[in-house]
Amino acid sequence: MSFYITTPIYYVNAEPHLGHAYTTLVADAVARFKRLQGEEVFFLTGTDEHGDKIVQAAQRAGEDPQEYVDRISELFRTTWPLLNISYSRFIRTTEPAHKKVVQLVLQKIYDQGDIYFDEYQGLYCFGCERFLTEKELENGLCPDHKCPPTPLKEANYFFRLSKYQDWLVQYIKDHPEMITPERYRNEILSLLKEDLGDLCISRPKSRLTWGIELPFDKNFVTYVWFDALLNYLSGLGYPDDPKWKSFWPAHHVIAKDILKPHAVYWPIMLKALGIPIYRQLHVHGYWNINEEKMSKSLGNIVKPAELIERYGCDQVRYFLLREMAFGLDANFSEEALKRRINADLANDLGNLVFRTLTMTDKYFEGQIPSPSEAQKPEQVLTQKTLEVVEGYILAMENFQFHRALGSLWEIIGESNRYIDYQAPWALMKKGQRERTATVIYHALEVLRIIGICLWPVCPNAAEKILENLGLDPKEELKLSRAQKFGLLIPGKKTRRGEALFPRLEEEKGTKALKAKGQTPKDKEPKEQKLLPIDEFAKWDIRVAEVIQAEKVPGTDRLLKLLVRCPEERTVIAGIAEYYSPETLVGKQVIVVANLKPAKIRGIVSQGMVLAAKDAQGLKLIVPEQPVQAGAKVG
Ligand code: ME8
Ligand code: MG
Repeated sequence: MSFYITTPIYYVNAEPHLGHAYTTLVADAVARFKRLQGEEVFFLTGTDEHGDKIVQAAQRAGEDPQEYVDRISELFRTTWPLLNISYSRFIRTTEPAHKKVVQLVLQKIYDQGDIYFDEYQGLYCFGCERFLTEKELENGLCPDHKCPPTPLKEANYFFRLSKYQDWLVQYIKDHPEMITPERYRNEILSLLKEDLGDLCISRPKSRLTWGIELPFDKNFVTYVWFDALLNYLSGLGYPDDPKWKSFWPAHHVIAKDILKPHAVYWPIMLKALGIPIYRQLHVHGYWNINEEKMSKSLGNIVKPAELIERYGCDQVRYFLLREMAFGLDANFSEEALKRRINADLANDLGNLVFRTLTMTDKYFEGQIPSPSEAQKPEQVLTQKTLEVVEGYILAMENFQFHRALGSLWEIIGESNRYIDYQAPWALMKKGQRERTATVIYHALEVLRIIGICLWPVCPNAAEKILENLGLDPKEELKLSRAQKFGLLIPGKKTRRGEALFPRLEEEKGTKALKAKGQTPKDKEPKEQKLLPIDEFAKWDIRVAEVIQAEKVPGTDRLLKLLVRCPEERTVIAGIAEYYSPETLVGKQVIVVANLKPAKIRGIVSQGMVLAAKDAQGLKLIVPEQPVQAGAKVG
C-alpha cells in the first residue's frame, strides 16, 4: 500500500515559524505512523516562491528575487532536519520541472475552453494573494492580515470555477470524509451556497514579472495560487514519472487560513484536468500567542530552531502534538511547554523507563528476566495495554494526536502504578526472585510497546528505549509488534542508558534553563509505612449532598460548593476543569469533615471532597446508591 502526504509549500517571504513547524510535524508523524504500518510513504514539502508578496519581501531585503528566494528557501530546508522531519522531497516552485507542469496544465485547460479573458475589478489582499469578497472583510480589513485590501482593476485570464460549482457541492456531499474535521467541511458547504464566480489566474507583466509565464499569452504570468497548488502533482513527477500514479491521490495537511484554495480551487482544477480528487484534506487551527494568530505578517513569531535548541527535538514534537486538539486553535506558551516536559516526559515516561531498566540491571544483571506464570495483575496490565494500543491506533488514523498521546500516557500511568503496587524491591527483599522476574518482564514488555507507539511522535527517544531493551529499532518498529504482548526474549542484554528527558529547572533571575540529572522517586525504594486501624478512625468521612455550586472567580480550577452533611458547610474543590457547577447540584459526594478549616481565595473551606485522577481525568468518588446525607464512611 502506498500513502502520499503533503504540507503546504510555504511562502518564502520570511523565516519558518512554529506554525509551519506544526503542520510539517503533523505530516511527519503521520508519515512515520504509516511506515510503522508497513506502508510505502511519499512525503512532500517545499516552498512557494512566486507572486507579489515575495517580490515585495525581496525589495525590503534589498535583494533580487532569485537571490532572495534561494536564501529563504534554504532556511526552511535546513530547519526541518532539526525537527527530525523525514520528508521524501522538497519542492520549490522556481524549479524548471515545476514550471513546465504549470504551463502544461494551463495549456490543457485553456484548450478545453475553461479559461477566458476579461476585465475585473476587486479588492486584493497581498498577504492572502487573492481577491477578497466584501463579506470576508472585518471592519474593512483582511481578517488574517489586519490590513485594508487594495482595489485593483485590470484585464486578466479567468478559470471557470462557476461551471464546476454544482459538481463540487455534490462531490463533497458524496464524500463526507474529504474535508476533515467536519466543521471545515460545513464551512465550505456553506460558502458554496453563494455564487463562486470565476478565478482570476493571471497577472499582467506590467505589474508583476516574478511568476510563470502563461503559455498562451506572454504578456501575463500565472496567479501564484494556481501555480502553487500544482506542486502537489509536479512534486510527484506528474505527468511522466510513474511514481505519481502509484501515490496519487494525496492526503493534504493545511491550516484553516488556506482552506478555500484547497477545498474549492484545487478540487475543481483536478476535475478540469480529469485527475481523481485528493483523498483527504486535513485542516488544523492556529497556534496563537495571546489570542492572536502567530504570523510573520503580525510579527509575533516563535522560531522553531531556537525552541528545539533550548528544549530538545522530541520535547518540542511531543508538546506540539499533545497540546493542540487537531482542528482547534491552541495557545502557545513556554510555561506550558516546560510543564509538559517535566510532568509527562521527565516524570511519567522518563521515570518509568529509568526505574524499570535500573531494576533489571540491579536484580537481573541487565538481562531480560524469564517470567513465570502471569497472575491477575499481569493479566490486567496486559489486557489494558493491548486495549489502549488499539485506541492509540484509531486516534492516530484520525489525526487525533492529543488523544493518541493521551492513550499512550494511560499505559505509562498504568505501568507505573503496576510497579508501585507490585513493589519489586519488596519482593526481592522477601526473596521472591521468580515473582520479581515476572513483574520486571511485564514492565519491560510495556516499555517495548510504548517504544514502538512513541516513534511517530518522539523518534529519538523511542529508538533509545528499544535499543536499551536490546532490540534493533529497524526490526522492532512495526505496529503489529505493538499489538502483541510477550515478544521480548528472556536472556537478552538490556542497558540502563541515561535519562531520556532531563528535568528542566528555571534559574532564579534569569530565563536560562538548566538540565538536571534525573532523580527517580524510587531509586532507593522505601517501604510503605503501615498505619494501625485507629489512625483511620480519627478521620470523619461522610456522605454530603451538593446544594449549590459555583466557580471561584478568577480561577480555572476551583469550585465553591455548599454541601449538606447533614449540617451545611462550604467546601472549596479543585475540580472546575472536570465538572461544571450546574452538573453537581443534587449530587452526592464524599467529604472529609474534620479537617482544619483553610482559607482559599478568601473563602473558608470546611472540608475536602474526595476524587480520583488518572490519565482520563478526574472523577468524584460517589456512593454507589443514594445514602442519607451525613452518613459516615468507613
Ligand atoms: O499560505 N498556526 O504559505 P504560508 C498554525 N504558500 N499553522 C500555521 C500558522 C499558525 N499560526 N501560521 C502558518 C501559504 N501556519 C501558501 C500555501 S500551498 C499550495 C500554498 C502554517 O507561508 C499552516 O500550515 O502563509 C498554514 O496553512 C501555512 O503555514 C501557511 O503558510
Ligand atoms: Mg500565510
